[in-house]
Amino acid sequence: MDMLQTNVQTEITTAAQADIAVSVSNVSKNYGDVEALRDLSLEFPRGQLTSLLGPSGCGKTTLLKIIAGLLDPTSGDVLVDGKAVTGPGPDRAFVFQDFALLPWASVMRNVAFGLELRGVAKSEREAIAEKYIANVGLSGFEKSYPHELSGGMRQRVGLARALSVDADVLLMDEPFSAVDEQTRRKFQEDLLSLVANENKTFIFVTHSIEEAVYVSDQIAILLPRPSRVSDIIRPTGLREKDMLTIRRDPEYLDIVDEIWASLRSYVE
Ligand SMILES: Nc1ncnc2c1ncn2[C@@H]1O[C@H](COP(=O)(O)OP(=O)(O)OP(=O)(O)O)[C@@H](O)[C@H]1O
Ligand SMILES: [Mg+2]
Repeated sequence: MDMLQTNVQTEITTAAQADIAVSVSNVSKNYGDVEALRDLSLEFPRGQLTSLLGPSGCGKTTLLKIIAGLLDPTSGDVLVDGKAVTGPGPDRAFVFQDFALLPWASVMRNVAFGLELRGVAKSEREAIAEKYIANVGLSGFEKSYPHELSGGMRQRVGLARALSVDADVLLMDEPFSAVDEQTRRKFQEDLLSLVANENKTFIFVTHSIEEAVYVSDQIAILLPRPSRVSDIIRPTGLREKDMLTIRRDPEYLDIVDEIWASLRSYVE
């Protein structure tokens, strides 16, 4: 037998694949008797923000955890940059719905924690953390502990922690749900500038149709449990519009109505 032939490695990369940062194929997830996801497939283009919109309990957090490598699917595959996910990795960062802060650690330590796990030296990680603490408006609270913060402030700590590790893929589970309306609008604008300026892939869960339409490149509408993708909607041309008037924009309202129509049938 020709030894050379057995050593030949083939790399198959097509142009189409190169634009997809995260690919979920036929993923199912059962928790005992509870069937959360069934045969769900979805692709997340690099540099874009994809929102997951669907009824409560349909499996959005489950899907994010599977992509993060925190949970194994019952069947199906997840590829990040063409490689199968086998566990958590530095290429993905998670902003949790329930904050998941270390209760015994200060804001600074919490924000710098992802970098600490990666072995970044203390002075360097604190300098990076300080930048993101300032970015989310928490300067002055570096020494505070999570129990001394409001829900919205805790959410901002979680956001700063995810941003500080500079992962390629950001998994955001309702990151703005605990903040007031004004802060939420500021966060939405900040998120849009991140999407515009960094070539990261954002996977964003929200319950707000309006928020999804405003911030997304694509919106995946999920069916109730066992969930699959029922529809993909790509709002275009809305980002250039003025945020103060967008809520009266006919194009914006049409997309909101379209999504509402497809979700309405599932809402009791
Ligand atoms: N660890 C678990 N053990 C058993 N069942 C679970 C577990 N986690 C989630 N589930 C079930 O899986 C389904 C999907 O849950 P998941 O948290 O993914 O939904 P979700 O879409 O994020 O909901 P929400 O919008 O309310 O956050 C639910 O029926 C839930 O009860
Ligand atoms: Mg959830």
